Amino acid sequence: MPKITLEDGTFKEVAEGTKLVLAIDDCGCDILHRCGGNSRCTTCRVEILEGDAGPIGELEQERIGREADWPANRRLSCQVRVTGDLTVRVLSTATSTGMPRGSRPID
Ligand code: FES
Repeated sequence: MPKITLEDGTFKEVAEGTKLVLAIDDCGCDILHRCGGNSRCTTCRVEILEGDAGPIGELEQERIGREADWPANRRLSCQVRVTGDLTVRVLSTATSTGMPRGSRPID
């Protein structure tokens, strides 16, 4: 099973095909997902530090295409399906922003 590791070393093994945002959530991280995983808000953004997060889908590309200076390793975790080991940096959490997290995305 693929292993998802956060920057602080927390990790979780998840079934292949799991949405990355849910894997991060299940690591105990309070990552934001304000639009509920619908590729609208970008608050679930992460940086891929190690591993291959797979191709960028049409919905994700359309949304990140509206952002200026979007780094190549930055992804919308609600749009990534885990297929292999990844190490990620979570960029927006409820703790760091004071914002409500949003409803948990559907698997
Ligand atoms: S873009 Fe809103 S939760 Fe991913």
